[in-house]
Amino acid sequence: MSVLIRLAEDRDIPEMATLRAQVWETAAFWVERIGLYLRGEHSPQLALRERVAFVAVDAGRIVGFVAGHRTHRHACDGELQWINVDEKLRKRGIAGMLMAAVASWFVQQQALRICVNVAPENAAAREFYAKYGALQLNDHWMIWEDVRVVSSFVEKKLQKKPRLHVPEST
Ligand SMILES: CC(C)(COP(=O)(O)OP(=O)(O)OC[C@H]1O[C@@H](n2cnc3c(N)ncnc32)[C@H](O)[C@@H]1OP(=O)(O)O)[C@@H](O)C(=O)NCCC(=O)NCCS
Repeated sequence: MSVLIRLAEDRDIPEMATLRAQVWETAAFWVERIGLYLRGEHSPQLALRERVAFVAVDAGRIVGFVAGHRTHRHACDGELQWINVDEKLRKRGIAGMLMAAVASWFVQQQALRICVNVAPENAAAREFYAKYGALQLNDHWMIWEDVRVVSSFVEKKLQKKPRLHVPEST
């Protein structure tokens, strides 16, 4: 398995929607929701216009994606909107690669304080965010006070698994 991370394109939306639908709602629901979000036609609370999505591709198939935007929510500079990995391919470091890409985009945007909404019962996501340096803000939110810390956690992971490939510039 050789996973590549790249910027999402419009044509990726149906596969991104299929991944979201593994967790909640239907693919049709997510095709519309993701499309509206990426085109800036629908925004979460206090979101700014700047937003991005990256996909993880394996052998031409989208196996994960992440999306985030600039925001003023919770006095943050950015919000991680969605991160999903194909349920059959979890625990292989794919979300970590996506996290590295979106963290680097936030840094380029000079957005350092980053929030993410996470259900209290979503232990996998909580563990994942904590693994990359996020702290608990309250029952429903976690936070990177300075998202630049993500790169140090990525470095540690790279030392263990040298297959991480993140684009230098996005
Ligand atoms: C959360 C999610 C994106 C993680 O994706 P992933 O590719 O499996 O994550 P990684 O393999 O990069 O995991 C990195 C670290 O996260 C933690 N982690 C990931 N899944 C975990 C699980 N099921 N239980 C405990 N810790 C977990 C571990 O610390 C792991 O490090 P390790 O491999 O050294 O143990 C994935 O489980 C998912 O898509 N869940 C459904 C969607 C979702 O809940 N998104 C977040 C909404 S807030």
